[in-house]
Amino acid sequence: MLSLADMGFTPPVALAPMAGITDLPFRSLVSRFGAGLVVSEMVASQEMVQAKPGVREKAELGLGVENTVVQLAGCDTYWIAEAARMVADRGAQVIDINMGCPAKKVTSASGAGASGSALMRTPDHALRLIEAVVGAVSVPVTLKTRLGWDDDCLNASEIARRAEAAGVQMITIHGRTRCQFYKGRADWAAIRAVKAAVRMPVLANGDIIDAPSARRALEQSGADGVMIGRGAQGRPWLLAQVAAALYGTPAPEVPQGAALADLVAGHYEAILGFYGRALGGRVARKHLGWYMDHAGTGADLRRRVLTAGPEEVLHLLPDAMQDCVRERRAA
Ligand SMILES: Cc1cc2nc3c(=O)[nH]c(=O)nc-3n(C[C@H](O)[C@H](O)[C@H](O)COP(=O)(O)O)c2cc1C
Repeated sequence: MLSLADMGFTPPVALAPMAGITDLPFRSLVSRFGAGLVVSEMVASQEMVQAKPGVREKAELGLGVENTVVQLAGCDTYWIAEAARMVADRGAQVIDINMGCPAKKVTSASGAGASGSALMRTPDHALRLIEAVVGAVSVPVTLKTRLGWDDDCLNASEIARRAEAAGVQMITIHGRTRCQFYKGRADWAAIRAVKAAVRMPVLANGDIIDAPSARRALEQSGADGVMIGRGAQGRPWLLAQVAAALYGTPAPEVPQGAALADLVAGHYEAILGFYGRALGGRVARKHLGWYMDHAGTGADLRRRVLTAGPEEVLHLLPDAMQDCVRERRAA
């Protein structure tokens, strides 16, 4: 069986899975700047196997994106094992199991079945799912959890230990409980107990937005690397910047002005190409919004970009991204 070490997962800076965001166009961009691993949006196992429209695209790998992890969600050993086999056959280098998603539609037994972070409440069942996936594929299997379900159920260390014994090769801990959703601050120090419980690599996740916060997260958690989600929105170069600061990899050239407009236009066209113009236009809006947040684009221009059709968006982007240069000069 391949191990993560054999694969040379380096630098240990990973893009977090984010439903609706870490699709192939965004992962490709982040990967091009430089990231150890990039993780797909969570893919519902049964829907994947049954080819529900739109689901297989989430695990779409793309040629040349070799550091792709496909994340599976599910609560049934048969479906999750079948889905694992399918995505491994399609080229996933690593399969991650989602035990961190807090959304009610994922955790509630009345929805798809109690999956995501709800599995932290049923560790024996969680273990059966892990064993089913590890047994189904020869690529490395990783796990992503929270600290626990709530303050009375902080069992990430126990789950990590049992998962490692079952063959899981790396674990990412989002330093919140399920019941915190995204409130409060991620508790990086609490991840230290998980690190102490296992020999496999542990990634710290939650509220890492730049190199200083990544460094603090590593110091407080003792983790082996970091996983970054929201901080990379509108900044696909962020992981490469963090990796350069922490691990001495080449620093990325952060695009500005015309180069930034070109990058955003390329991302926009890749989204339209991947989803088609109608759906792509809607998916692209949040990315455009984040780019403009960072660029400090004025309110009027922002509104025009977010309501325009493709040709006009491409026409407006150079101006929208120029505000970035002005803002940096003023700083
Ligand atoms: C919009 C959104 C979608 C997310 N989707 C997933 C997902 O599909 N699978 C998963 O394990 N976590 C998901 N997460 C959680 C992130 O992977 C990450 O654990 C969390 O955002 C904390 O990290 P951050 O502060 O760096 O964003 C999602 C988070 C956000 C904001």
